[in-house]
Amino acid sequence: MVSGVARGLALARTNKSIGSEHIRRADAAGLAEAVSRLEAGKVVAFPTETVYGLGADAARDEAVEKIYRLKGRPRGNPLIVHVLDVEMARACVLEFPPAAEILAKAFWPGPLTLVLRRGRGLSRLVSAGLSTVAIRCPSHRIARALIRRLGSPIAAPSANRYGQTSPTTAEHVYAEFHSDCPLILDGGACQVGLESTVLDLTGSQPVVLRPGAITPEMIQHALKRSLEAGSHVISKSLIVPRQSAAPSPGLARRHYAPRTTAYRFPRKNWGKIRAWIEKGRGREPVVLISHDTRIALGEPNTTIVMPDDDVGYAKRLYAALRQADHAGCKSILVLEPQHKQGLWPAVIDRLARATEEVPL
Ligand code: TXA
Ligand code: MG
Repeated sequence: MVSGVARGLALARTNKSIGSEHIRRADAAGLAEAVSRLEAGKVVAFPTETVYGLGADAARDEAVEKIYRLKGRPRGNPLIVHVLDVEMARACVLEFPPAAEILAKAFWPGPLTLVLRRGRGLSRLVSAGLSTVAIRCPSHRIARALIRRLGSPIAAPSANRYGQTSPTTAEHVYAEFHSDCPLILDGGACQVGLESTVLDLTGSQPVVLRPGAITPEMIQHALKRSLEAGSHVISKSLIVPRQSAAPSPGLARRHYAPRTTAYRFPRKNWGKIRAWIEKGRGREPVVLISHDTRIALGEPNTTIVMPDDDVGYAKRLYAALRQADHAGCKSILVLEPQHKQGLWPAVIDRLARATEEVPL
């Protein structure tokens, strides 16, 4: 008979080898292999400070086409183009406006994507038929090494199947693609854990299309400071409106979702939720994701305890949704965070897309 401990060890060993033929260390040999695949028009997965990306040479149609095919992504949903610096960004766009200049200085390299008017030289597929292109300059060492060695921009959406939870580790990427899996450069867990802020700079006012670690307040502050410093190149209308959020072509209502039905609920409904679990949905064990130690469930249910600070919560969110998905329960319940500062709006945005309200 195998003891619990021995069984546990055997399992750990199997897990370690899962996908290992696809997952490469990002050492000199791993990077060289990844770059040669990109040069051959192939797709490679790599870490960024936000989430793992599924990258291909942004200048080549047949390479970018492979990203859409592998992800199962609708062709009307444009991709983010990753650059090394402002100089490479300029080469991708018609103009790099003053507001972009200021924001790049303040937040690049980092988790801010700017939507600008597209120039020549990129595959038309990255823009999915739009006259604009989303440009991001990542800070992650491995992402930067890849772009530098390729010498040109890399188009990369998050490295998950369309509509699913974004990956924040190399193992998550493997779990998305299995035998179709491309080479994955392993950079451990992503530092931010949520996708970049997407800011549209093509209209009369900057608009946040997707909230992220660079908040509207931070953007507003950087632009204002520059205005106060006597910059004549930006006007007051360029200050990003608070809480602005407009539809983006790729921001489907249901997104970032685990496969198990996932519900969210506010703290004030905890009493009713408990009753609902015990009676209705109930009798079947559920997984609860909670950042409040007073809101927890005992056996046979599972409680995943989350950090109660925004940075810690964001970093752990997608891994927790995946863990919940594998708990073998019929439903996942997530306690809604109530805070408004820092990364919380981005967390709440992703939860709203990954879950439904509990049908009480
Ligand atoms: O943090 C990130 O941004 C990650 C890492 C890999 O860099 N990438 C990522 O890509 O999240 P993706 O494809 O999953 O999300 C791209 C978002 C979508 O919501 C898409 O609609 C929007 O950016 N987007 C891309 N190009 C756009 C454009 N030209 N106009 C408006 N939105 C655009
Ligand atoms: Mg995505």
